[in-house]
Amino acid sequence: MKKRRKRLRIDRIAYCLALLILFVMGIVFGIKALLNLRIYNSIKKNGSVKLYKQEVKVWKKTLNYVHDDIDTVTIKYRSNTMEMDSSKFKNGMNLKLNTYKKYVDEALFDNVKTLYIEKNDILNRTDKLTIKLPRYLYKNGIVDIYGVKNKNDIILLAPSVKVEDKYITFNINHNYDDFFITYIKGKSISSSNNLNISVGESRTLNAKINPSNSTYNKLDYKYDKKIVSVKNGVVTGKKAGTTYITVTSKKDRIDKEIKVTVKKEKKQEVKKEEKKEKPVIETKPQLSTVDGITYIDGIMIVNKTYPLPSTYNPGGLTDEFMDAFYEMQSAARLDGISLFVASGFRDYDYQKDLYEAYVKRDGKAAADTYSARPGYSEHQTGLAADINAADSSFHDTAEAKWLDENCYKYGFIIRFPKGKEQFTGYVYESWHLRYVGKDIAKKIHDAGGISLEEYYGLTSEYKD
Ligand code: DAL
Ligand code: ZN
Repeated sequence: MKKRRKRLRIDRIAYCLALLILFVMGIVFGIKALLNLRIYNSIKKNGSVKLYKQEVKVWKKTLNYVHDDIDTVTIKYRSNTMEMDSSKFKNGMNLKLNTYKKYVDEALFDNVKTLYIEKNDILNRTDKLTIKLPRYLYKNGIVDIYGVKNKNDIILLAPSVKVEDKYITFNINHNYDDFFITYIKGKSISSSNNLNISVGESRTLNAKINPSNSTYNKLDYKYDKKIVSVKNGVVTGKKAGTTYITVTSKKDRIDKEIKVTVKKEKKQEVKKEEKKEKPVIETKPQLSTVDGITYIDGIMIVNKTYPLPSTYNPGGLTDEFMDAFYEMQSAARLDGISLFVASGFRDYDYQKDLYEAYVKRDGKAAADTYSARPGYSEHQTGLAADINAADSSFHDTAEAKWLDENCYKYGFIIRFPKGKEQFTGYVYESWHLRYVGKDIAKKIHDAGGISLEEYYGLTSEYKD
């Protein structure tokens, strides 16, 4: 008896639930029907339709009915309009207002990703443009902002904009129809293909996104948790077996599989290795000159004592500089720091013009404290650059602090450190980085951020 009553109650609940579901479905269906009817009527009557959101899915017949009578339909959304050939209507299609794509040839931008700024993400458009960005960009990146003028001219409005917030605002004059931004796209992930480890052993996966300055550089790892564990890109063997770790960059939709073989735990070797102290041989590196260029310890030396030949021209920042810079830029980005080269390679003539302009402005004695004479600038080596801004206001920024603490990890030194004027011959420049390689950069850093002159015992003085 009791059982029957219970059953009856369950039946009643199920019945009520079914009614409720039907009711909700009815309401949803009703709203959709009304919206479709509105679209149908509007197109029939006016040849145009105003969408209630940027993209609207339309029912099968709604557009088919209109098809025969009308050639072009004007689609409107907020203040934007688009003409659409009605022969393109398809069953159940999305009516979407997209005014940008047709004007922009993505092929123009090699290795970058284009993000069209939807009209409702343009928050202010008078003399200033404010754009709302997706989270992965404002957490990471540097973007270029373009304007589209007269529906076909593409103009770079703001290059290398540092994105630090959900919104970016910059000045424009108003004659742009549309806007879009570009950012650097990750093309591939590099890492070792196979790894052999033992249970309990850890090894870095060394997975990196290419190019290394890709805006979105977060990597996710998928793996069999029974066999391995992965934390911060380091894999640890848990159980013997073979598995695959998939490394993914979600935004760029690229991934890479790494085969990992985990062997049984290695038996610890009990034998104690006798530690042989290596004798430290203190050899003072010697200066040498090759084709008029001074080197010490394999490092090119350029300062007020050691100039470069005026013809020396590596053609730009060297590959070793750029590779190290990209590595540093990616690491900085993860800390919310944006770095870019403000002034890189400068040839002899460029430096001459620059120095002469400073002499004209401030006099020779003053100019010599902050600008190198032509032939005496490290910028001519292709191994040095000014980062973000060559201005004393840069000293107190988070970027300068980050560089000061971290640049050595990537092979750079702050070439003109604070309080080292008597050695370097120049005032403090928190932005001027010189590439010397990781080994020497670390040694100089560990020695307390001394100058290159102190490290090698060199002078930096003009003869006259
Ligand atoms: N500002 C540095 C010293 C240069 O001109 O190379
Ligand atoms: Zn500089």
